[in-house]
Amino acid sequence: MQDILNEIAKEMMAIKDKGKVASYIPSLANVDINQFAISVSLCNGEHYHAGCANTLFSIQSISKVFTLTLALGKLGENVWHRVGREPSGDPFNSIVQLEHEHGKPRNPFINAGAIAVADLIMQGHEPKETLAEILQFIHYISNDDSILIDEEVAKSELATGSRNASLAHFMASFGHFINPVDKVLGTYFHHCSIAMSTKNLANAGLFLANNGIHPSSGYPVVSSERAKRINALMLTCGHYDGSGEFAFRVGLPGKSGVGGGILAIAPGKASIAVWSPGLDIIGNSKLGTKALELLAEKTSWSVFAK
Ligand code: DON
Repeated sequence: MQDILNEIAKEMMAIKDKGKVASYIPSLANVDINQFAISVSLCNGEHYHAGCANTLFSIQSISKVFTLTLALGKLGENVWHRVGREPSGDPFNSIVQLEHEHGKPRNPFINAGAIAVADLIMQGHEPKETLAEILQFIHYISNDDSILIDEEVAKSELATGSRNASLAHFMASFGHFINPVDKVLGTYFHHCSIAMSTKNLANAGLFLANNGIHPSSGYPVVSSERAKRINALMLTCGHYDGSGEFAFRVGLPGKSGVGGGILAIAPGKASIAVWSPGLDIIGNSKLGTKALELLAEKTSWSVFAK
């Protein structure tokens, strides 16, 4: 595995066209595009890394996997009254479907869906309390208490978040919101601004590869049924209107973020995190996807074949 990761990292570093860093969140536009990292945490307890696997980056939409997990823990199946489970076929920040579908977002991973999930997990609490809960959960699943929110990124998102504010107010106009819109947006922007390394992320995703069980403690984080379903949503909706392409090329459930990270799950085998800040036109990491494609090829990991 170490040889495979070294080879992939070397190959990725040599590629000139790395895509483009996200520029609509000003503090992400300053990230050095030449960085690359890959981490693999195996279900058997082994860990492998290549590149700058300890460097922190903005996890952005990958945080939506963790907030969905928390929402399912609090509300169970009732989550599905607020958000759907269908791929959207539209960009992550699209508003068009929301009107036709009466303010119910297609899935929990597009921005509108994740904002609705943030509203669900707040349950009348202040953003600070909800964020503390989200961080505590991430500390537990990644075995790292030092993970924090990057306040500069959060401020930058807030300052340029008109599109997300529009999505939130539009949903609220259908009477769906439980908490004040501004507080929900504050919670959403801050959880997107959590900073983690690929090492952290690969560890954090391990319960999804391991039938819901947190491997180091042996305790269930979620039931095996729920882990299976979160993986299904990652596969069908985790890359927005690029989800089909990701399933075709990589063949594993995955969730991307505009910070350039991707968390991918090989059920029963491993949790994988990659980071390369340059994005493709859809907003998914260009070399991150390429690296996962190579890893899947070299390991034969796929949810579509034995
Ligand atoms: O709300 C936003 O636009 C960002 N905080 C998250 C978007 C994102 O990561 C899309 N993923 N590829």
